[in-house]
Amino acid sequence: MRKPFVAGNWKMNKTAEEARSLVVEMLPELQKLESVERVICPPFTAIMPVSAVLAGTGIGLGAQNLHWEGSGAYTGEISAAMVKEFCKYVILGHSERRAMFGETDITVNKKVKTTLSNMLVPIVCVGETLAEFEAQKTTEVVTRQMLEGLQGLTPEEGARIVIAYEPVWAIGTGKAASGEGANRVISESIRQPLEKLFNQAVAQGVRVLYGGSVNAANAAEFFGQTEIDGALVGGASLKVADFLTIVKAAVK
Ligand code: PGA
Repeated sequence: MRKPFVAGNWKMNKTAEEARSLVVEMLPELQKLESVERVICPPFTAIMPVSAVLAGTGIGLGAQNLHWEGSGAYTGEISAAMVKEFCKYVILGHSERRAMFGETDITVNKKVKTTLSNMLVPIVCVGETLAEFEAQKTTEVVTRQMLEGLQGLTPEEGARIVIAYEPVWAIGTGKAASGEGANRVISESIRQPLEKLFNQAVAQGVRVLYGGSVNAANAAEFFGQTEIDGALVGGASLKVADFLTIVKAAVK
Protein backbone atom coordinates (compact mmCIF):
# COMPACT_ATOMS: atom_id res chain seq x y z
CA MET A 1 0.00 0.00 0.00
CA ARG A 2 1.40 3.36 -1.05
CA LYS A 3 0.49 6.25 1.25
CA PRO A 4 -1.10 9.14 -0.68
CA PHE A 5 1.20 12.14 -1.04
CA VAL A 6 0.33 15.75 -1.87
CA ALA A 7 2.95 18.48 -2.09
CA GLY A 8 2.44 22.19 -2.67
CA ASN A 9 5.13 23.81 -4.80
CA TRP A 10 4.90 27.52 -4.04
CA LYS A 11 7.61 28.38 -6.60
CA MET A 12 8.80 32.03 -6.39
CA ASN A 13 5.77 33.25 -4.47
CA LYS A 14 5.25 34.66 -0.95
CA THR A 15 7.57 36.65 1.27
CA ALA A 16 8.51 35.07 4.59
CA GLU A 17 5.67 36.88 6.36
CA GLU A 18 3.09 36.03 3.66
CA ALA A 19 4.20 32.40 3.72
CA ARG A 20 3.90 32.22 7.48
CA SER A 21 0.33 33.54 7.45
CA LEU A 22 -0.65 31.22 4.59
CA VAL A 23 0.42 28.10 6.51
CA VAL A 24 -1.17 29.39 9.69
CA GLU A 25 -4.42 29.70 7.75
CA MET A 26 -4.33 26.20 6.27
CA LEU A 27 -2.96 24.44 9.32
CA PRO A 28 -6.10 23.59 11.35
CA GLU A 29 -7.72 21.66 8.49
CA LEU A 30 -4.54 20.36 6.90
CA GLN A 31 -3.38 18.89 10.18
CA LYS A 32 -6.44 16.64 10.38
CA LEU A 33 -5.76 14.88 7.08
CA GLU A 34 -3.22 12.49 8.55
CA SER A 35 -3.74 9.65 6.11
CA VAL A 36 -2.11 11.79 3.41
CA GLU A 37 1.59 12.68 3.46
CA ARG A 38 1.39 16.49 3.16
CA VAL A 39 4.35 18.62 2.15
CA ILE A 40 4.74 22.38 1.71
CA CYS A 41 7.61 23.66 -0.44
CA PRO A 42 7.98 27.43 0.05
CA PRO A 43 10.84 29.56 -1.30
CA PHE A 44 14.13 29.33 0.64
CA THR A 45 13.63 32.62 2.49
CA ALA A 46 10.31 31.39 3.90
CA ILE A 47 11.55 27.97 5.02
CA MET A 48 12.55 29.07 8.54
CA PRO A 49 9.30 30.83 9.52
CA VAL A 50 7.19 28.08 7.92
CA SER A 51 9.17 25.40 9.75
CA ALA A 52 8.40 27.09 13.06
CA VAL A 53 4.67 26.90 12.28
CA LEU A 54 4.83 23.28 11.06
CA ALA A 55 6.94 21.88 13.92
CA GLY A 56 5.17 18.92 15.50
CA THR A 57 2.17 19.06 13.14
CA GLY A 58 3.03 16.03 11.00
CA ILE A 59 3.10 18.24 7.91
CA GLY A 60 6.38 18.07 6.03
CA LEU A 61 8.51 20.85 4.67
CA GLY A 62 10.41 20.76 1.40
CA ALA A 63 12.88 22.89 -0.53
CA GLN A 64 12.54 23.53 -4.27
CA ASN A 65 16.16 22.84 -5.19
CA LEU A 66 19.65 22.29 -3.80
CA HIS A 67 23.24 22.03 -5.04
CA TRP A 68 25.02 18.69 -5.25
CA GLU A 69 28.24 19.93 -3.63
CA GLY A 70 28.54 20.02 0.15
CA SER A 71 29.83 23.60 0.46
CA GLY A 72 32.10 26.11 -1.22
CA ALA A 73 32.24 28.85 -3.82
CA TYR A 74 28.79 28.42 -5.42
CA THR A 75 27.27 31.88 -5.18
CA GLY A 76 23.50 31.80 -4.88
CA GLU A 77 23.27 28.07 -4.17
CA ILE A 78 22.01 26.10 -1.15
CA SER A 79 23.49 22.84 0.15
CA ALA A 80 21.76 19.68 1.35
CA ALA A 81 23.04 20.29 4.89
CA MET A 82 21.38 23.73 4.86
CA VAL A 83 18.12 22.28 3.57
CA LYS A 84 18.25 19.41 6.04
CA GLU A 85 18.27 21.72 9.06
CA PHE A 86 14.60 22.49 8.33
CA CYS A 87 13.30 20.16 5.62
CA LYS A 88 12.73 16.48 4.96
CA TYR A 89 11.98 16.81 1.23
CA VAL A 90 13.40 18.53 -1.84
CA ILE A 91 11.93 19.02 -5.32
CA LEU A 92 14.54 18.19 -7.97
CA GLY A 93 14.63 18.60 -11.74
CA HIS A 94 11.45 20.67 -12.01
CA SER A 95 10.80 21.51 -15.67
CA GLU A 96 11.16 25.24 -14.94
CA ARG A 97 14.68 24.57 -13.69
CA ARG A 98 15.43 22.36 -16.70
CA ALA A 99 14.07 24.97 -19.14
CA MET A 100 15.33 28.20 -17.54
CA PHE A 101 18.29 27.28 -15.34
CA GLY A 102 20.16 24.73 -17.41
CA GLU A 103 19.40 21.60 -15.41
CA THR A 104 19.96 18.32 -17.23
CA ASP A 105 19.53 14.65 -16.43
CA ILE A 106 23.20 14.69 -15.39
CA THR A 107 22.81 17.50 -12.84
CA VAL A 108 19.53 16.02 -11.64
CA ASN A 109 21.36 12.72 -11.06
CA LYS A 110 24.06 14.45 -8.99
CA LYS A 111 21.42 16.24 -6.94
CA VAL A 112 19.44 13.03 -6.37
CA LYS A 113 22.57 11.30 -5.05
CA THR A 114 23.46 14.18 -2.71
CA THR A 115 19.86 14.37 -1.50
CA LEU A 116 19.71 10.66 -0.71
CA SER A 117 23.09 10.57 1.00
CA ASN A 118 21.84 13.38 3.25
CA MET A 119 18.76 11.32 4.10
CA LEU A 120 16.40 13.80 2.47
CA VAL A 121 13.51 12.63 0.28
CA PRO A 122 13.85 13.77 -3.34
CA ILE A 123 10.70 14.57 -5.31
CA VAL A 124 12.10 14.04 -8.79
CA CYS A 125 10.19 15.73 -11.61
CA VAL A 126 10.00 14.30 -15.12
CA GLY A 127 7.82 15.15 -18.10
CA GLU A 128 7.77 15.96 -21.79
CA THR A 129 7.44 19.38 -23.46
CA LEU A 130 4.58 20.26 -25.80
CA ALA A 131 6.81 19.75 -28.86
CA GLU A 132 7.88 16.33 -27.57
CA PHE A 133 4.27 15.43 -26.80
CA GLU A 134 3.15 16.44 -30.29
CA ALA A 135 6.01 14.48 -31.85
CA GLN A 136 4.84 11.44 -29.81
CA LYS A 137 8.11 11.31 -27.93
CA THR A 138 6.63 11.17 -24.44
CA THR A 139 7.67 7.57 -23.74
CA GLU A 140 11.19 8.13 -25.03
CA VAL A 141 11.73 11.39 -23.13
CA VAL A 142 10.27 10.35 -19.79
CA THR A 143 12.01 6.96 -19.87
CA ARG A 144 15.35 8.70 -20.56
CA GLN A 145 14.79 11.22 -17.74
CA MET A 146 14.08 8.31 -15.38
CA LEU A 147 17.01 6.09 -16.41
CA GLU A 148 19.58 8.91 -16.52
CA GLY A 149 18.28 10.90 -13.58
CA LEU A 150 18.26 7.86 -11.29
CA GLN A 151 21.27 5.94 -12.55
CA GLY A 152 23.76 4.54 -10.07
CA LEU A 153 21.37 4.32 -7.10
CA THR A 154 20.92 1.20 -5.02
CA PRO A 155 17.43 -0.35 -4.75
CA GLU A 156 17.39 0.83 -1.11
CA GLU A 157 17.92 4.40 -2.32
CA GLY A 158 15.45 3.98 -5.17
CA ALA A 159 12.79 2.98 -2.67
CA ARG A 160 13.10 6.35 -0.86
CA ILE A 161 12.36 8.49 -3.92
CA VAL A 162 9.10 10.17 -4.90
CA ILE A 163 8.53 10.83 -8.61
CA ALA A 164 6.34 13.58 -10.05
CA TYR A 165 5.14 13.16 -13.62
CA GLU A 166 4.57 16.69 -14.88
CA PRO A 167 3.92 17.15 -18.59
CA VAL A 168 5.43 20.58 -19.28
CA TRP A 169 2.46 21.58 -21.46
CA ALA A 170 0.16 21.08 -18.47
CA ILE A 171 2.11 23.20 -15.96
CA GLY A 172 0.47 26.52 -15.18
CA THR A 173 -1.60 26.36 -18.36
CA GLY A 174 -4.94 25.24 -16.98
CA LYS A 175 -4.74 22.34 -19.47
CA ALA A 176 -4.21 19.29 -17.28
CA ALA A 177 -3.49 15.88 -18.77
CA SER A 178 -6.32 13.36 -18.60
CA GLY A 179 -6.22 11.00 -15.65
CA GLU A 180 -6.08 8.03 -17.99
CA GLY A 181 -3.32 9.55 -20.13
CA ALA A 182 -1.16 10.35 -17.10
CA ASN A 183 -1.80 6.88 -15.70
CA ARG A 184 -0.56 5.27 -18.92
CA VAL A 185 2.65 7.36 -19.01
CA ILE A 186 3.35 6.53 -15.37
CA SER A 187 2.86 2.83 -15.93
CA GLU A 188 4.96 2.64 -19.13
CA SER A 189 7.57 5.31 -18.66
CA ILE A 190 8.00 5.55 -14.89
CA ARG A 191 7.19 2.23 -13.23
CA GLN A 192 8.79 0.18 -16.01
CA PRO A 193 12.09 2.10 -15.81
CA LEU A 194 11.97 1.79 -12.01
CA GLU A 195 11.72 -1.96 -12.40
CA LYS A 196 14.61 -1.96 -14.86
CA LEU A 197 16.77 0.21 -12.59
CA PHE A 198 15.89 -1.52 -9.33
CA ASN A 199 13.34 -4.32 -9.03
CA GLN A 200 9.63 -5.00 -9.04
CA ALA A 201 9.16 -4.26 -5.35
CA VAL A 202 10.71 -0.80 -5.74
CA ALA A 203 8.72 -0.11 -8.92
CA GLN A 204 5.49 -0.94 -7.10
CA GLY A 205 6.43 0.78 -3.83
CA VAL A 206 7.56 4.21 -5.07
CA ARG A 207 4.97 6.99 -4.88
CA VAL A 208 4.32 8.63 -8.24
CA LEU A 209 2.54 11.98 -8.32
CA TYR A 210 0.86 13.78 -11.16
CA GLY A 211 1.53 17.51 -11.57
CA GLY A 212 0.31 20.12 -14.03
CA SER A 213 -2.79 22.26 -13.49
CA VAL A 214 -4.13 20.08 -10.68
CA ASN A 215 -7.05 21.90 -9.07
CA ALA A 216 -9.94 21.35 -6.68
CA ALA A 217 -12.18 20.17 -9.54
CA ASN A 218 -9.89 17.67 -11.29
CA ALA A 219 -7.82 16.19 -8.41
CA ALA A 220 -10.18 13.26 -7.78
CA GLU A 221 -9.87 12.14 -11.40
CA PHE A 222 -6.12 11.73 -10.94
CA PHE A 223 -6.32 10.11 -7.52
CA GLY A 224 -8.78 7.55 -8.88
CA GLN A 225 -6.12 6.15 -11.22
CA THR A 226 -4.29 2.96 -10.25
CA GLU A 227 -0.75 4.31 -10.74
CA ILE A 228 -1.20 7.84 -9.36
CA ASP A 229 -0.49 8.27 -5.66
CA GLY A 230 -0.96 12.01 -5.27
CA ALA A 231 -0.09 15.36 -6.74
CA LEU A 232 2.53 18.06 -6.98
CA VAL A 233 0.41 21.20 -6.95
CA GLY A 234 1.60 24.62 -8.08
CA GLY A 235 -0.91 27.46 -8.47
CA ALA A 236 -3.71 25.80 -6.49
CA SER A 237 -1.42 25.19 -3.50
CA LEU A 238 -1.42 28.95 -2.83
CA LYS A 239 -5.20 28.97 -2.35
CA VAL A 240 -6.16 27.57 1.04
CA ALA A 241 -9.60 26.19 0.15
CA ASP A 242 -8.40 24.66 -3.13
CA PHE A 243 -5.34 23.03 -1.59
CA LEU A 244 -7.42 21.55 1.24
CA THR A 245 -9.94 20.17 -1.26
CA ILE A 246 -7.09 18.54 -3.21
CA VAL A 247 -5.59 16.95 -0.07
CA LYS A 248 -9.04 15.71 0.99
CA ALA A 249 -9.51 14.14 -2.44
CA ALA A 250 -6.33 12.13 -1.83
CA VAL A 251 -7.69 10.49 1.34
CA LYS A 252 -8.29 6.80 0.53
P1 PGA B 1 0.70 24.06 -11.60
O1 PGA B 1 2.24 23.72 -11.34
O2 PGA B 1 -0.10 23.24 -10.63
O3 PGA B 1 0.58 25.52 -11.34
O4 PGA B 1 0.41 23.68 -13.02
C1 PGA B 1 2.65 22.42 -11.01
C2 PGA B 1 4.14 22.37 -10.83
O5 PGA B 1 4.85 23.06 -11.56
O6 PGA B 1 4.66 21.65 -9.97
